[in-house]
Amino acid sequence: MASSTLYTLALALLAVNYILPVYGIRCPIVECWFVQEKPGRGGGFQAAMSQDKSLMYVRISPDSTGAESGQKPPAGIDPTRIYHVIDPSASLCSSSLYSPEGSVKKPQCEINPFLPQPSNVKWAAPLTRSGQSPIYLEAEWFSASLKGFDEHLALSTVMRTAKATNDLNVILSVSSTSALVRSRLGVPVVLNSLFWMESSSPLSELGFAVEWRYQFRGTGRLIVAYDAKSDRLAETSEEGAELDISALHQTGNASLLLEEAQVKHTGTYICTVYLPYLLAQVTIDLEIVEPPSISISPSPLPVSFPGQTLTVQCEASGFFPLSLEFQWEFVGADGTVQPLGEGGMSGHRQASDGTFSQSNWLTLDLGKLDLGRGGEVTCVAVHPGGTRRTSTTLNIIGVRGPSIEDSMAMVAVALGLYGLIKLCSWMFSTSGSIDNDSKEKKDK
Ligand SMILES: *[C@@H]1O[C@H](CO)[C@@H](O)[C@H](O)[C@H]1NC(C)=O
Ligand SMILES: *[C@@H]1O[C@H](CO)[C@@H](O)[C@H](O)[C@H]1NC(C)=O
Repeated sequence: MASSTLYTLALALLAVNYILPVYGIRCPIVECWFVQEKPGRGGGFQAAMSQDKSLMYVRISPDSTGAESGQKPPAGIDPTRIYHVIDPSASLCSSSLYSPEGSVKKPQCEINPFLPQPSNVKWAAPLTRSGQSPIYLEAEWFSASLKGFDEHLALSTVMRTAKATNDLNVILSVSSTSALVRSRLGVPVVLNSLFWMESSSPLSELGFAVEWRYQFRGTGRLIVAYDAKSDRLAETSEEGAELDISALHQTGNASLLLEEAQVKHTGTYICTVYLPYLLAQVTIDLEIVEPPSISISPSPLPVSFPGQTLTVQCEASGFFPLSLEFQWEFVGADGTVQPLGEGGMSGHRQASDGTFSQSNWLTLDLGKLDLGRGGEVTCVAVHPGGTRRTSTTLNIIGVRGPSIEDSMAMVAVALGLYGLIKLCSWMFSTSGSIDNDSKEKKDK
């Protein structure tokens, strides 16, 4: 009893000592670009944009110590572009927004002025059906979108300031801990997305909606959409894609679950969360990467003679994307590896499931190559999804010692096949010991 109380106490102390300060420290100073249309130049085809350096000092609550404590704002940044952001969701405090020291890769951040407006999409329109805009909207609004330096975070927030100060409150935020997802074929895929809304905001009482869209090379379609106000899913033709509705309500988990990854799922997914008059969205790229299955033929290779020419084929199938290189290797009986080049590539074929297959041929001219008495011929297929290798055995008979017989002997070989086989089998069985004997002699 006493010990368990002590234990609890110790844990509590640990929590106080560790978690709280860490929480305070964890929120970074985020460097951003403040991007807006240049005022007074409307009407053009492309509005001119201005881009200014900006900073966000992030805190979790008004009381918590923020990132700015004890730090002077850097020179060269217009003080009106320095914001103090309170983000109770803490999504702006992700470790992905700190680039490791010395890293060239930086998190990306852009802030824009945001204009609240009713949404036209079917599943979000009911949120503003009453047509009344709350006074709450009459404030200055900004949106910020951020990408972690390591593709591990995509984040979008909508922020508000009532008093035309630079103190912003995050009202809505959507984030994904993986902006880039790579998956093999046939497995379930989670496209991760979490959203948070300020519960004290009058907008959050009016309901929310969530939508996932798919985009690839200029075409797009709706995957799934949910109107939480009327608890209704929009009708779509998409199969095998699901939202966990109860998780959506309980934890703001808006992750999209694809039951079984297929080639056709490759593309960009956009998760949009709507509050009345507000929206925030994150994009996630899904890449399907499936390495090939490979086979080599003939296997084993027919017993060969020096001077003969052989063709070996390597067939790779079921891979995606179309990015494959072949290499050939020969591994001799003594283990030495000899590269044999890249072979000749066939055209590719695409199966109905979208995966590719491709072949490669290697011509082995045993008259030119010194492959001893044979070994393993290996096909190596190099693909972004992984390297695959497979081998076939090559036996060369009629080789004396390490070098190929001279051409006169080759003529003799051609003349008498029966004699050759006799000779060869004799040599094959004894040549090993001859080698050892001669080596020993040399050594002495
Ligand atoms: C959100 O839901 C997905 C799919 O159900 C799950 O894999 C993920 O762990 C959940 N994320 C959180 C933070 O609960
Ligand atoms: C040749 O000698 C090595 C050791 O020196 C031995 O391992 C090998 O079995 C020998 N080979 C034959 C064919 O006798």
